Amino acid sequence: TLNQQYEEKVRPCIDLIDSLRSLGVEKDLALPAIAVIGDQSSGKSSVLEALSGVALPRGSGIVTRCPLELKMKRNKEGEKWFGKISYQDYNEEINNPADVEEKIREAQVKITGDDLGISDDPISLEIASPDVPDLTLIDLPGIVRVAVKNQPVNIGDQIKRLIQKFITKQETISLVVVPSNVDIATTEALKMAQEVDPDGERTLGILTKPDLVDKGTEDMIVKIVHNEAIHLRKGYMIVKCRGQHEIKENVSLIEAIEKEKTFFKEHAFFQTLYDKGQATVPKLAEKLTLELVHHIQKSLPHLEKQIEKELAQTQAQLDKCGNGPPCDTSERLNFLIDSITAFTQDAISLTTGEELKCDF
Ligand code: GDP
Ligand code: NA
Ligand code: MG
Repeated sequence: TLNQQYEEKVRPCIDLIDSLRSLGVEKDLALPAIAVIGDQSSGKSSVLEALSGVALPRGSGIVTRCPLELKMKRNKEGEKWFGKISYQDYNEEINNPADVEEKIREAQVKITGDDLGISDDPISLEIASPDVPDLTLIDLPGIVRVAVKNQPVNIGDQIKRLIQKFITKQETISLVVVPSNVDIATTEALKMAQEVDPDGERTLGILTKPDLVDKGTEDMIVKIVHNEAIHLRKGYMIVKCRGQHEIKENVSLIEAIEKEKTFFKEHAFFQTLYDKGQATVPKLAEKLTLELVHHIQKSLPHLEKQIEKELAQTQAQLDKCGNGPPCDTSERLNFLIDSITAFTQDAISLTTGEELKCDF
């Protein structure tokens, strides 16, 4: 069954990467991840919010000002919701999903110092719940063209540099978020993704705001999602999230998923995308989990080689240290003398410019 397949194939892959991440491997090696990129207000945070089921800071202006790693872990049915936020050397458990948004805003202010600039310093948010997919996604600041009052004039370049840092890595899948009511060909985020991944092998297009599509351009949107306009190896998906109006009306995230389904099923043009499994947030969650697992499986041999290389280097360094002080007390003095002699020789060769015998 599908559930069995999931437990046997999907879960071990994601657990493996998670445990490598928690060991701090990421300081030395890049681990597979999914980064969300797009213009400001294209709907990035809304998509993450819909996937995670928790409200995130969103709206107009630069709301996302630090990379936000959203680590979601699917619990067994009946287990309770768990959240934890960490950044710099701070971490805190969150017991109520409703507190997440405020905690992230707080973190951003602490990291950036004010509410205008951006920072490379990530915020990590772990969520465990029976209702989330097994995914780690990274939300990034949106691309802007002009700085507003009090913002650094080069804010646009700063954001692009931050995005590039993430999407350049071979281990990153880029989710390019594009609203259905703008010309996709002119989208900066897609251009950036194409620069680092010309064949679109690790780029997935996400169209948002299908309810705002300009009349008469619906068939163009269908063509894009069918991958017949700007071809990406991984293709496209289309989703509808909550608009400002629905948020004002207090439409919950669960209700929004229902409304989304109805929207696509009854849409004269987009129904076909629903039938083919290329529409809605739940379908996107499924697709992303599979893509991530596929990506992890593909990255593992390379990751293994890198780990072996690092291990060999570390072992060589360790070997140079010898066995350390002997247990026998009578031999300890000789060991100390040898160590001091070696150290002195190294110190002398330092002044004469010779190569060191010892690495530390
Ligand atoms: P971000 O800057 O890319 O993170 O974009 P946000 O997620 O903050 O969304 C920007 C605005 O677009 C918000 O007011 C959202 O409510 C709205 N929005 C997002 N998705 C949709 C959608 O599918 N339909 C409509 N009508 N509005 C949306
Ligand atoms: Na925004
Ligand atoms: Mg955002």
